[in-house]
Amino acid sequence: MLTQSRISEAGRCRRWRDFDTLLDSSQPEQGPTFILAANMVSTVAPVPTPKTSNANCGDLAPRQEDRILVLDFGSQTAQLIARRVREQQVFCQLVRHDLTADRIRELNPKGLILSGGPASVYGAASPQADPEILNLGIPILGICYGMQWACQARGGKVQPGKAREFGRTECKLTQHDDFTAGLPEVSTVWMSHGDQVELLQEEFQPLGQTATCPFAVVKHREQQFYGLQFHPEVTHTEFGRRLLENFVKRICGCEGTWQISSLIDQEVAALKERVGKSRVICGLSGGVDSSVTAAILARAIGKQLSCIFVDNGMLRLGEAEKVRERFERHFQTDLHVVDASQLFLRELAGVSDPQQKRKIIGKVFIDVFRKEAETIPDAKFLAQGTLYPDVIESGANPDGPAATIKAHHNVGGLPEQLGFELIEPLRELFKDEVRRMGLELGLPEELIWRHPFPGPGLAVRCLGEVTQERLERLRFADAIVLEELRAAGLYREIQQAFAVLLPVQSVGVMGDGRTYEDVMAVRAVQTDDFMTADWYPMPYEVLGRISTRIINEVRGVNRVVYDISSKPPSTIEWE
Ligand code: XMP
Repeated sequence: MLTQSRISEAGRCRRWRDFDTLLDSSQPEQGPTFILAANMVSTVAPVPTPKTSNANCGDLAPRQEDRILVLDFGSQTAQLIARRVREQQVFCQLVRHDLTADRIRELNPKGLILSGGPASVYGAASPQADPEILNLGIPILGICYGMQWACQARGGKVQPGKAREFGRTECKLTQHDDFTAGLPEVSTVWMSHGDQVELLQEEFQPLGQTATCPFAVVKHREQQFYGLQFHPEVTHTEFGRRLLENFVKRICGCEGTWQISSLIDQEVAALKERVGKSRVICGLSGGVDSSVTAAILARAIGKQLSCIFVDNGMLRLGEAEKVRERFERHFQTDLHVVDASQLFLRELAGVSDPQQKRKIIGKVFIDVFRKEAETIPDAKFLAQGTLYPDVIESGANPDGPAATIKAHHNVGGLPEQLGFELIEPLRELFKDEVRRMGLELGLPEELIWRHPFPGPGLAVRCLGEVTQERLERLRFADAIVLEELRAAGLYREIQQAFAVLLPVQSVGVMGDGRTYEDVMAVRAVQTDDFMTADWYPMPYEVLGRISTRIINEVRGVNRVVYDISSKPPSTIEWE
């Protein structure tokens, strides 16, 4: 069973959950969430009483499209199952494992997928679904724990297997079925389990086996229930995609009509209806999520949208101008640019402690944002770019997976604290879907594929005190790194790259003189989800060009080093 490992990660990540949530809830692709921590809220000044936010806040609004529900038993790959189904152009949502059969009937899905999970189904406190779901007449696919739960619910026996199976193994199909159509007799599958079904009731029929697992693929003889002991959602399972496609299309009869473009139309209609004649404020950060949020709102409500962009002085070179220019090109709505860079710098003077820096930046940001928001009359809503993974992991959705299984987060605390109703147009989307939506809405590729940038900006990369002079040094070095990666055609191959200004100086020689100047580190990583990352084996000639240019062009730097640490045990940012 793949276990939920993000819980421990969440504790570590708390350090960077701060104000930037207001703008981009989850900057890295499929990455960790950037949720405002409750302890952060307590550092800000008293705020108006929160208003209740309800609409598009987690209710699974009826849609015309076919939909599949994934009942989440706590698997690390539950989100991945949902994404794989969506890749078949079938709308899919993650729901709590104990959603009642009545509620499921109301939601009217075309199929159910029961995820894996870390528990043993025979354990005392193991998560249990409503047994009535097996009588709904809706096709069900049980994966690992999900299959074991269903087989046990029907009188089968689940036990620790003689051999635990983790990793790749061969699965041999013994019977042909629509579910396995298109699969070869033997294929590689990814197993991750200690328990397995040892005794299968007569009503089930085995369809496939591995060397140690006699019931690796099963089906119910009369009902549309299928079970897989392995994980079709991970890429290591050779024909996993095909199995999921067979399930959603052949077995459930979904047509695969769910498209980002139709989603945009639906979302635009829903936003128009919800907002009415009111005004919506949207914070822009320059990142993908807040830009796509603004773009869809602009399409829905046009001039009733006001955007606020706070220049905190910690942005990349030319970023503030770029945001303004992009905005003017793509939106015909009200933009408030607040240059608060001097205020941020004043408040940061003399501070070197990274946590302290974050707190100060968060507090100043909220003050500045709130003050600007007050100048916008009749604003009733605040838009935020919360993504689906944030919603799932927060446990904020009443039908969604229970927060007792997932890491406990606090979605959207801040906007409510500011006294607005919250609008989250992206809350049902994964990052890659947000990117596609952005492209459909006409946002430029350069923005859509931009490397993530932390909310507190260059402050987390300017180790030691943040001064105007040090920031400038870092900003130029950072621009050189990105320029050289683009020139070498490596920008898209690397998921994040930047320069870090170290708080140490070292000796050098320049011309005839001895220097004692700053050291600049260069970091470039490859990662799928930003939870783990590998340092990028940068070609020497590119490293050479970056180093030469930084030393020649950035005054005050006489040494460049390249960071060759992976995450874990290091992190991506240096702080
Ligand atoms: P670490 O340093 O924890 O970073 O390995 C993982 C990812 O998170 C980004 N990051 C932040 N993003 N606000 C953000 O929006 C933050 O305060 C913050 N701190 C780190 C980091 O750039 C990387 O992509």
